[in-house]
Amino acid sequence: MKFFEQCARRWVILVAALMALPLAAEPDALQICVSCHGKDGVGINADYANLGGQNKAYLVNQLYAFRSGDRKNAVMNGMAAGLSDADIEALAAWYSGQQWVTQNNGDASLVEEGRNRAGYCHACHGMQGHPVAQEWPIIAGQSALYVENQLMGFKNGARYHPLMANVVKNLDPAAMKALAAYYTQVTKAD
Ligand code: HEC
Ligand code: HEC
Repeated sequence: MKFFEQCARRWVILVAALMALPLAAEPDALQICVSCHGKDGVGINADYANLGGQNKAYLVNQLYAFRSGDRKNAVMNGMAAGLSDADIEALAAWYSGQQWVTQNNGDASLVEEGRNRAGYCHACHGMQGHPVAQEWPIIAGQSALYVENQLMGFKNGARYHPLMANVVKNLDPAAMKALAAYYTQVTKAD
């Protein structure tokens, strides 16, 4: 009898302790990010990236690249400069844990053209813009202007990745615009 009472008491203490834990604590450094990416990772401007629900390993890699300057963007290089490895881990965990919100329509006249060009992208970004590898980004539903800027960035050297460097060799600005219009309206649920 006593044994069962003790067990029950332990369970009550354990459950109470678990309920007191917040689901995921807000990282301290989140304050640096909210004015542009919001708490939920929805970019305030179209040229800011949506981060909510993005793959965590990808976000970690990008924050390291901004901090080291391997990925060049005047604003983000400044934002990442003071982040510790632990901040980067916590911020990537936070934003990847938020909902990916897609509300983009895409430029209707360009969506079809982008769809026709996207066959090349499927191998890595998945049939609907959701890659298999966690180190690779979800591009479905990402802001169109941001996607267009990134494709241009891979071309002009602001960012470097051997796979994307090869991809953008064959893309001119018009093709980039069409691909961005297509991907922005692909929903995560597709
Ligand atoms: C003043 C506005 C601003 C603030 C504050 C800001 N960012 Fe950014 N962020 C941007 C812009 C602009 C870009 C697009 C950069 C580019 O074009 O390469 C971006 C891009 C990113 C990306 C790249 C996303 C991708 O898909 O590759 C990550 C990750 C990111 N920000 C994380 C953060 C984090 C974490 C913080 C807080 C420590 C933060 N940002 C603070 C403006 C901001
Ligand atoms: C061979 C594999 C491969 C192919 C094919 C490929 N990508 Fe990528 N893509 C990647 C990888 C890997 C990254 C992440 C690069 C990094 O870590 O900086 C990436 C990153 C991107 C990004 C940056 C997203 C962000 O959040 O900043 C965009 C946009 C993109 N790809 C669009 C495309 C489009 C459009 C196509 C087709 C024309 C395409 N990719 C084809 C592998 C590929």
